[in-house]
Amino acid sequence: MSLYKKLGFVNTIDMFKKANKGGYAIPAYNFNNMEQLQAILFGCLESRSPVIIQVSKGARDYANQTLLRYMAEGGMAIVNSSDHPIPVALHLDHGDSYELCVSCIESGFSSVMIDGSSHPFEENIALTKKVVDYAHAHDVTVEGELGVLAGIEDEVQSEVSHYTDPDDVEEFVKRTGVDSLAISIGTSHGAYKFKLKPGEKVPDLRFDILEEIERRIPGFSIVLHGSSSVLPEYVKIINENGGQMSGAVGIPEEQLRKAAKSAVCKINIDSDGRLVMTAIIRKVFKDKPGEFDPRKYLGPAREELKKMIIRKNREVLGSADQA
Ligand code: G3H
Ligand code: 13P
Ligand code: ZN
Repeated sequence: MSLYKKLGFVNTIDMFKKANKGGYAIPAYNFNNMEQLQAILFGCLESRSPVIIQVSKGARDYANQTLLRYMAEGGMAIVNSSDHPIPVALHLDHGDSYELCVSCIESGFSSVMIDGSSHPFEENIALTKKVVDYAHAHDVTVEGELGVLAGIEDEVQSEVSHYTDPDDVEEFVKRTGVDSLAISIGTSHGAYKFKLKPGEKVPDLRFDILEEIERRIPGFSIVLHGSSSVLPEYVKIINENGGQMSGAVGIPEEQLRKAAKSAVCKINIDSDGRLVMTAIIRKVFKDKPGEFDPRKYLGPAREELKKMIIRKNREVLGSADQA
């Protein structure tokens, strides 16, 4: 039996099948520390949402890969001993090499992303297929990527976005055998997704490209990265409490809600969680300059993050009450 199954995780096959049928998307939240992991798991347990907890290469470097992996195992033990367990996939976010994917699979991940989007098409196919062959032999699911998002993709930086070309998707999916595909339709990573002139509106996502992709690969599971909304209420708290984040802007939640009802069955959110925690911590520091117990600022930050996750699951992803 694959290691991840012994740990109680699931791969993404059933999750995506149900999400596609049900017209909602599975939330994929990143974690780097205990408070984020607690907020994600407790928020998803409370809203009864399936969830993908994801770990980037940067998270492994920051928190120590062994510690993160055992934290996830501990989290899963709590989930599975609750009255109403939810399906949880442990996923590698933006894997950039075959070796990294193998290392994650060997340590108990149930799903990996191999991000070959910065490589030429044929190289992306060869790398992705190599990962798929190994992963599928262990019942682990694989996410590939076609098209480049603007912003920062781990160590790969792109100034401009190259939308996914619908002409490429069928061949990519067929030749690699991937289980899901991340596409570029106007989302981007980080808290500064658009440079807007005064009075300018955030441009709509390219739903025309998404529709064409759906037509080429009907029923296939599509993933959206860079899908934080950069919630203005938290940016405001940050700026009112000593931060400087003017010009921070994200994807409006209505656009994500619309995407979640389509073939998009996984939506990645990291920056929104970072903003929530930063906002609350800044506020505690401003209001209580004498506070020096980490539990007194990390605790409220964790609570607020949990609230945000519950609201996102209910109002944006539509994944609440689906577990
Ligand atoms: O897409 C990237 C994720 O937000 C992870 O970011 O590489 O800073 O951990 P990171
Ligand atoms: P955001 O920066 O918009 O939260 O995107 C996160 C992401 O795509 C993780 O892979
Ligand atoms: Zn991403």
